[in-house]
Amino acid sequence: MQATATPCLKLVQASLLVLLIAACAVPPLFAQRFSWDAERENLTVLPEDISGPELRAVMQGFTQALGVRCEHCHDDSKGPRFSDLDFASDAKETKEITRTMMKMVRRINGEDLAEIDRPAEVRIGVTCITCHRGNALPITLEEDLNRVIVAEDVDAAIARYHTLRERYGDGFAYDFRVNTLNNLGYQLLGEDKIDEAIAIFRLNTEMYPQSSNAFDSLAEAYMKKGEPERAIALYQQSLVLNPNNDNAVEMLKQLKAKQ
Ligand code: HEC
Ligand code: HEC
Repeated sequence: MQATATPCLKLVQASLLVLLIAACAVPPLFAQRFSWDAERENLTVLPEDISGPELRAVMQGFTQALGVRCEHCHDDSKGPRFSDLDFASDAKETKEITRTMMKMVRRINGEDLAEIDRPAEVRIGVTCITCHRGNALPITLEEDLNRVIVAEDVDAAIARYHTLRERYGDGFAYDFRVNTLNNLGYQLLGEDKIDEAIAIFRLNTEMYPQSSNAFDSLAEAYMKKGEPERAIALYQQSLVLNPNNDNAVEMLKQLKAKQ
């Protein structure tokens, strides 16, 4: 859970982190001024003598890679302000998980990838962002929405889609391209969740009204549901959008033959 941001904190998040922390740190709000050079109290993975700029680069790298703020991992039980954060405390599980992640990344790069026989200058290493892509949890949009369908229902998943799109639409945390909902719809069809599949394919036609494929998929779901009239109308729509959609031509032939 994120604490409510004060205007100061929002600025801090914006980017010029260190300068702004200094600018925001006006007494008496801040008992002790934050400094990247302060003595390290509780480092168990990073070297204890890590320099201020290096520590800052690592921590800012974490916030960017996960799309979070410092308090995602650091203890904010004393209050919502930056000055309230206790950086040495291990109260948050995410901080401990991060240590596991740091060791994992080190092992992947240092042991697993090191087995690939390529010169160092062309090797590509794994970093937090490789998996997290600006997301606190490295989960695909498809997987995320499917979890909501399983835990709640398809309406909740559609609401979540809109929330995520609003928040991450321009970023790379989730793939909002047309194939994501299409794949999820087919996964649901495969599980015989026909109504859920229809709701997801329909959402895709709303988000991508120019996608012939989105209409073709929705048509297929209605065919499975036993609603040939609707399927015919949707295949026709799909053909309007892409006259080369041979599948739609074929399906229309079959559907009309049965009528
Ligand atoms: C994804 C989790 C995560 C985020 C986000 C994060 N940190 Fe950290 N931070 C850690 C972990 C883990 C350690 C301890 C590393 C170790 O044990 O070697 C740490 C250690 C620190 C320390 C050293 C504390 C000490 O004395 O032991 C400071 C200072 C710090 N972080 C500042 C920040 C600031 C400022 C931010 C926001 C810009 C930030 N961190 C964001 C996980 C995070
Ligand atoms: C190889 C892929 C991969 C890399 C690289 C990776 N992570 Fe993760 N991370 C995961 C996965 C998968 C999970 C979810 C674990 C679970 O809950 O089952 C996760 C979970 C987390 C969590 C817990 C999230 C939560 O809210 O429960 C944190 C914090 C985290 N990672 C931080 C980091 C940091 C910081 C780095 C870089 C040092 C990093 N990860 C690198 C795959 C990765």
